[in-house]
Amino acid sequence: MWGGRFAEGPSAVMREINASIPFDKRMWRQDLAGSRAHAEMLGAQGIITADDAKAIGFGLDALASEYDEQGVPENLALEDIHMAAEHRLAEMIGPAAGRLHTARSRNDQVATDFRLWVRDAVDQAEAALGALQDALLARAEEHAESVMPGFTHLQVAQPVTLGHHLMAYFEMFARDRSRLRDARARMNLCPLGSAALAGTGFAIDRDATAAALGFDGPTRNSLDSVSDRDFAIEYLTCAAQTALHLSRLAEEFVIWASQPFGFVSLSDQWSTGSSIMPQKRNPDAAELVRGHSGRITGALVSLMITMKGLPLAYSKDMQDDKPPVFEAHDLLGLSIAAMTGMVESATFRRTRMRAAAETGFSTATDLADWLVREAGVPFREAHHITGRAVARADAAGLRLDQLDLAALQEIDDRIDGGVYGVLSVDASVSSRTSFGGTAPARVRESVKAARRAREEEA
Ligand code: ARG
Repeated sequence: MWGGRFAEGPSAVMREINASIPFDKRMWRQDLAGSRAHAEMLGAQGIITADDAKAIGFGLDALASEYDEQGVPENLALEDIHMAAEHRLAEMIGPAAGRLHTARSRNDQVATDFRLWVRDAVDQAEAALGALQDALLARAEEHAESVMPGFTHLQVAQPVTLGHHLMAYFEMFARDRSRLRDARARMNLCPLGSAALAGTGFAIDRDATAAALGFDGPTRNSLDSVSDRDFAIEYLTCAAQTALHLSRLAEEFVIWASQPFGFVSLSDQWSTGSSIMPQKRNPDAAELVRGHSGRITGALVSLMITMKGLPLAYSKDMQDDKPPVFEAHDLLGLSIAAMTGMVESATFRRTRMRAAAETGFSTATDLADWLVREAGVPFREAHHITGRAVARADAAGLRLDQLDLAALQEIDDRIDGGVYGVLSVDASVSSRTSFGGTAPARVRESVKAARRAREEEA
């Protein structure tokens, strides 16, 4: 298609290094949609005849059915999806196909196709995350009262409820979705009509093509338009951050499913066995979600490094933008679906979680707070007194609520029997009623509010 000024064809290696058809054929729908919008606009503006525009339109429809049924052939000589589609169109409709590329370059074409593709990817990721949020909501509601240890430094800190813990992830995914929506709004401008880099002398209507492709309007600078891949980087940024959150949740499942913890057992559907140890049930999917987050972040780094030294406008390096985006998108989709399945089907073991919450003197803060509230002790002093009570219990091999009153009063005589009302894990979680706190009533409230917000979105 560009052979006019060449006497010889490219070497086999040149052909191979140059070709993007093996991966960019994935954008065939976007490519045909872009061509359809462009051809209609050329016809409407009188740049090509109405007959040619109509022939191209029919041809593109036929080509779409052909690709749909048979896939896109990988002919390296045709380089990329843009040339492959145009070549096949010419075979199908004849010379009219040669008018399609009027007032267009592959540079604005690929920028348009890729934006359309990434825009769909954003929508898919957002919807999938919404389903994961719904799964978390259901389990959080079910476990609004299930007590488990809350950790800092992975040391038992204070009792919390599982519902509260799961809702923490709901919040992370809410931020991820909001970032995806922001990115979508910013990327939704159409580069088509920027041509190779400088715009075109033909009387094109960029508003029309932008509208036909569902964009909010045309991009404003032709040089920027053909060289901008911010939209892909932003998508990968969102994907990497989402994957990071998925990885943290996956890690919790790995820890919780281990025998010493035993907080959760994953359903058979989400467990794997060992080829040598017959007793094993491994959380492979959770581990792979954790692993995939590394590859997704790698995709972001890969594209940023590809782009960082490029002068304006288009350079062929930019052809390398697609593989990391496609890979990250596939891995992200799998990871979200796997986490959703695990959350939906996991069995949380309340007794184990409660027993663990009762270890580690998890209600020590409640004792200190009681001294502040009931005996007017300054918090620093209350902290010290409680530390002594913990040391005493630890030495005796008892929980705090198992120390008798005489032992507690020996440490500080301002303590009375009322203190036992705050030393149980249930009393502890129920008392944390501050906005955003772990009290079951608060958790139920937050589930309800979140569910209302989800319904309003729908
Ligand atoms: N396959 C190319 C890409 O993905 C399309 C643009 C080619 N433009 C060019 N000037 N060679 O980037």
